Amino acid sequence: MELKPPLFILILLPLLLTYTTSSSSLTPLSLQHISPTKSPSPSKSPTPTSAQSTLDPKQLTALQSLNIPTLKDPCTQPSFHNATLCDTAKPFRHLLSLRLTNCSDDLELSTTALKSLSTLQDLQFINCPISPVHFPSDLTSNLHTFTCINSLKRLTGVWLGRLGNVTDLVVANVFVNASGPFVILGNMKKLRSVTISRTNLTGHFPKKWNLNIIHIDLSGNRIKGNVHTSFTLLENLEFLNLSSNALSGEIPYTFGDLLSLKNVSFASNSMSGAIPDTVSEIPGLVHLDLSSNQFNGTIPKSISGMKNLRYLNLENNNFNGVMPFNVSFIKRLSVFKVGENSNLCYNHSKISSKVKLGIAPCDKYGLPVSLPPAKESGFDDNGGSNEDETTDDDSSTHKDSNKHGPSKIVLGVAIGLSSIVFVIVFLVLLSKWCK
Ligand SMILES: *[C@@H]1O[C@H](CO)[C@@H](O)[C@H](O)[C@H]1NC(C)=O
Ligand SMILES: *[C@@H]1O[C@H](CO)[C@@H](O)[C@H](O)[C@H]1NC(C)=O
Ligand SMILES: *[C@@H]1O[C@H](CO)[C@@H](O)[C@H](O)[C@H]1NC(C)=O
Ligand SMILES: *[C@@H]1O[C@H](CO)[C@@H](O)[C@H](O)[C@H]1NC(C)=O
Ligand SMILES: *[C@@H]1O[C@H](CO)[C@@H](O)[C@H](O)[C@H]1NC(C)=O
Ligand SMILES: *[C@@H]1O[C@H](CO)[C@@H](O)[C@H](O)[C@H]1NC(C)=O
Ligand SMILES: *[C@@H]1O[C@H](CO)[C@@H](O)[C@H](O)[C@H]1NC(C)=O
Ligand SMILES: *[C@@H]1O[C@H](CO)[C@@H](O)[C@H](O)[C@H]1NC(C)=O
Ligand SMILES: *[C@@H]1O[C@H](CO)[C@@H](O)[C@H](O)[C@H]1NC(C)=O
Ligand SMILES: *[C@@H]1O[C@H](CO)[C@@H](O)[C@H](O)[C@H]1NC(C)=O
Repeated sequence: MELKPPLFILILLPLLLTYTTSSSSLTPLSLQHISPTKSPSPSKSPTPTSAQSTLDPKQLTALQSLNIPTLKDPCTQPSFHNATLCDTAKPFRHLLSLRLTNCSDDLELSTTALKSLSTLQDLQFINCPISPVHFPSDLTSNLHTFTCINSLKRLTGVWLGRLGNVTDLVVANVFVNASGPFVILGNMKKLRSVTISRTNLTGHFPKKWNLNIIHIDLSGNRIKGNVHTSFTLLENLEFLNLSSNALSGEIPYTFGDLLSLKNVSFASNSMSGAIPDTVSEIPGLVHLDLSSNQFNGTIPKSISGMKNLRYLNLENNNFNGVMPFNVSFIKRLSVFKVGENSNLCYNHSKISSKVKLGIAPCDKYGLPVSLPPAKESGFDDNGGSNEDETTDDDSSTHKDSNKHGPSKIVLGVAIGLSSIVFVIVFLVLLSKWCK
């Protein structure tokens, strides 16, 4: 250092001040609670000693080996792309957090560098397609949060499972080879939030979870099997995304026990059965996505009493009967989808056909009078095959005596109308052609 100490302090003080005021916007949310050491002193007079201490030389070398420029002190002037956060130890500060983004392909993680960096509590790789290496056990036991997005090429369940003290785990867009999520999560006793998304992870949905867990996102994998009843014991769970997997079976009847739940998606799986009535007992539920499964039965009317609901997607399932919602309920939502449920219909004396729902109006027995426009070509099958699909419900008593009447009339009218339209179009074309 060529600067004389007093001058040095004069330059560093404002830098430290700007850092401490702006750090909250630079560092991830999860860091704020792991850095109680972050200058508790009143902002006008940080102690001169803390300003003097710089990063541990071993850690400085490790950062340099990762191609992170260290001309500026990474503790006082962290870069935006490769963010760093340090403790305030003396005589040298130590790294608590490191985020590597957009690494070059030729970068290599060395075990030596990682050994020196084992004070890290938070480590993030974002767009760093480097080869994973064995993490020293000091590092794995210190890490509270670990993020790997589109990085480290491929991971194994055993490798991830060593991170036994993490509270927050994010792994996305990277192949994970494991026999199931439990191999990864089974030993993480402090886990509060997990995202393992778009990793092609296979195996079953775990039966056992840490009861304190708040956030589960296993979307975009190949997880199969049932969602077990035991999972409804997670009374702190706020967020559950299991979309785009291969789950089957029904939603447990005790689903309504998940009293903290706010957002949930089972979209794009192979789940079936009815929506449990208990779903409407979840007071804060805002987002419910059950689209693209084989859910069936009638839609519980109690859902219309859910005051906080803003997003409801039930499209592309096998729901049947009269859609129970009125216009004021639908208008309160920002997203409402019920289309592609061929046995579901709406009561046209309650809802105008101007509200585009993608389902047919009901006849007086609560059956769809025709298929929605998108499927008009299947209309001819309606009279015959529709019967098989709807025999299960209580309208079957009416059906023997009455069903053939209405549907034959409808069929006749439709054929008549389409012939007339056809003739008109034909005549118009003919007259144009003849000119
Ligand atoms: C990483 O690179 C992408 C694409 O080149 C760019 O959009 C993004 O802003 C970069 N991120 C950071 C933190 O530098
Ligand atoms: C961030 O770190 C990566 C890998 O360590 C390096 O390749 C890149 O140059 C760094 N970017 C900046 C802006 O420091
Ligand atoms: C978790 O941290 C404690 C100390 O804080 C350590 O004793 C323990 O070995 C760590 N657990 C794992 C699985 O690394
Ligand atoms: C998952 O598998 C699909 C299809 O085999 C493939 O296209 C995709 O790249 C894989 N994703 C990962 C993260 O490996
Ligand atoms: C996953 O790991 C197992 C055992 O380590 C190995 O046999 C298998 O080939 C790996 N699968 C893939 C797709 O890499
Ligand atoms: C669930 O994850 C998928 C894909 O990862 C995403 O498109 C969807 O918005 C997520 N749903 C919720 C409720 O966050
Ligand atoms: C709904 O699906 C379940 C499970 O696939 C099935 O047992 C049940 O009979 C179906 N109910 C109706 C009304 O179709
Ligand atoms: C939860 O759902 C609401 C409504 O769709 C949405 O605005 C919000 O961003 C979601 N929250 C999370 C964490 O995805
Ligand atoms: C719509 O349904 C809700 C819930 O069932 C009910 O409270 C409300 O009065 C209904 N509104 C109209 C206009 O029928
Ligand atoms: C439609 O609503 C009207 C008026 O509330 C009611 O009389 C009729 O039974 C309903 N039709 C069906 C099929 O539910």
